[in-house]
Amino acid sequence: MTSSTPQAEFWRGDFGNAYTDRNVASPAQMQARLALWSEILSHTISAPPATILEVGANLGINLRALRLLSSARCLALEPNDKARAILVRDGVVAAEDVCGGLASEIPFPDGAADLAFTSGVLIHIHPDHLAASLGEIHRCARRWIACVEYFSDKPETIPYRGHEERLFKRDFGGLWMDTFPDLRIVAYGFAWKRVTGLDNLTWWLFEKP
Ligand SMILES: C[S@@+](CC[C@H](N)C(=O)[O-])C[C@H]1O[C@@H](n2cnc3c(N)ncnc32)[C@H](O)[C@@H]1O
Repeated sequence: MTSSTPQAEFWRGDFGNAYTDRNVASPAQMQARLALWSEILSHTISAPPATILEVGANLGINLRALRLLSSARCLALEPNDKARAILVRDGVVAAEDVCGGLASEIPFPDGAADLAFTSGVLIHIHPDHLAASLGEIHRCARRWIACVEYFSDKPETIPYRGHEERLFKRDFGGLWMDTFPDLRIVAYGFAWKRVTGLDNLTWWLFEKP
């Protein structure tokens, strides 16, 4: 069981609540996410996802963009109660499609979604729990896996808003490929802050065999 890691408690508690209060789906944020997901989804044109699972959705800026770009049914996993309530209140995800929990123990069935992804979530998972988290995301993804995270050539831990042991960067795309060698890399890219409004995010899209 990994449900009580210090990192999970951090996101379930006051820090996660304050993050959710700050995390507004502003027009600028939405525009940036729409551009990002237009690009990623363009590579799924051979089999557009009819169900999409975001692991660590918070209040759903990605899912709000995806709902505008696709008619897919959206599923969300999110450990923070306040964020989950907003997802349902705002109609981003149907109540029955939102679950509490962690990436390392996802309460959705095998192949629950055609596309499963994280965005700014693997960076907040302690390295000891990454293998279980990738395993669960892989289990829930029927065809596509996307990963949008901060990149670092070598694994490193950097302070996050004054907190230690809460932000872990690495080559997450390489980790996905090393963990599941039969994944096919479909596309990858970099959302440069200067032009996209996103925070220098690196993204990868993989296809399961
Ligand atoms: C930086 S926010 C990113 C939110 C959203 N994915 C986005 O891109 O706007 C990280 C989110 O991941 C959630 N989270 C943290 N640890 C998690 C874990 N182990 N499994 C699933 N979600 C987690 C947090 O509660 C928070 O909502």
